[in-house]
Amino acid sequence: MSFHLSASAREPRPDTAFFAEKQAMATDLQQTLENKFSETFGYAPAIVSYAPGRIEVLGNHTDYNEGYVLSAAINCGTFFAISPRTDSAVRLVAGDIMAEVSFPVSAPERSEDHVWSNYVKGCLAGLNAAFGAPERGFDAMFLGNIPLGSGLSSSAALEVCATLAMAKIRGVEPAPLEVALIGQKAEHEFAGVKCGLLDQATSVFGEKDHLVMSDFRSREFKPVAFPSDVCFLMCNTHAKHALVDGAYNERRECCERAARFFAAALDHQVSALRDVSWAEWLAHRADMPELDAKRSAHPIGEDGRVLAGVEMLREGDVESFGRLMFESHDSSRNYFENSCPELDTVVDAAKAIPGVLGARLSGGGFGGSAVVLVRSRDAEAAAAAIRHAYAHKNGDRCDTRTVVCSGGARVVKGA
Ligand code: GLA
Repeated sequence: MSFHLSASAREPRPDTAFFAEKQAMATDLQQTLENKFSETFGYAPAIVSYAPGRIEVLGNHTDYNEGYVLSAAINCGTFFAISPRTDSAVRLVAGDIMAEVSFPVSAPERSEDHVWSNYVKGCLAGLNAAFGAPERGFDAMFLGNIPLGSGLSSSAALEVCATLAMAKIRGVEPAPLEVALIGQKAEHEFAGVKCGLLDQATSVFGEKDHLVMSDFRSREFKPVAFPSDVCFLMCNTHAKHALVDGAYNERRECCERAARFFAAALDHQVSALRDVSWAEWLAHRADMPELDAKRSAHPIGEDGRVLAGVEMLREGDVESFGRLMFESHDSSRNYFENSCPELDTVVDAAKAIPGVLGARLSGGGFGGSAVVLVRSRDAEAAAAAIRHAYAHKNGDRCDTRTVVCSGGARVVKGA
């Protein structure tokens, strides 16, 4: 996908030439997509939807353990343009590489060759299951500006905007939570990643200038005001994001095994690690297989940090909040082992930089991006210092940019 900046991108300028080069307003990206659509299909799209990527701020690998997360929708995302056809065919085009797939609307099947199409096909399968297969197919194209593999959830953004647009043309309106669930199911069944609901839910429920506080047991998603004098830097290490390679699924299995252990060991109901306190973990860790003990410490500790972090934000205590982010990264590094040397370089460097309050990996881990909380007035200097430290240690480029907490997914044309 290409890398224009989107919508709420009236932000302080991005910090590197890399992003500066790509900067354009969301309307440009939407316009580019509509132009490409018209050139390809010979007419303008009837409906265009948009869904943002996300950053995860606190609460790592807690979503599928029925726990808590603080996250935010960001000012990068994906547009999806669509129009109905008169026959039952679907023509789907990836607008960045201009690759096309065709298939019957009633039978979207997983593709080995065009892996990118699976996210959309999975959502179509979900809509067909919920609302019945429509008679008429559609022409569709998508285009986004979320760097692929950067840990900013480009796949969830695609799932969410595709679901919104494909629902709209068939005249149905799934509830926001259902949109997120359809995206998650596509990820499970068509992409092979047993992800939680965090990425899709944040893309759906994001709000401008707010974090999203998610409770993945009750499935409540609440905005938490984000202070205006601090901001986030995303630092993309370009290290490999190994979700589909099974590391993510393996961590999830470990957590589920640990939950079963605690269910047998504790005298209260445990249906997920959410139900286990830190004190209980400490009391029982020696009785568990060592690896399961280590892994389960992470989501259990993260739940506590999210709850504490929400209170700190309410009290305006951003310094303590930042310290929780550092603790979260240490827990990833030591217990969950989903960090990597590249992410550690960013976080370690950030600790010594004036104005930086906290830093941690964001999302699945094993590469991708680190998120850094910094005083806005120091953001540019901090970004330069992180890039410098990264190049010095890893001999490679780390891209940084300021991220703005932005609004969630919506239909932007033909609503
Ligand atoms: C990925 C998954 C999410 C969540 C995070 C880790 O982004 O898609 O569901 O588990 O990792 O918190």
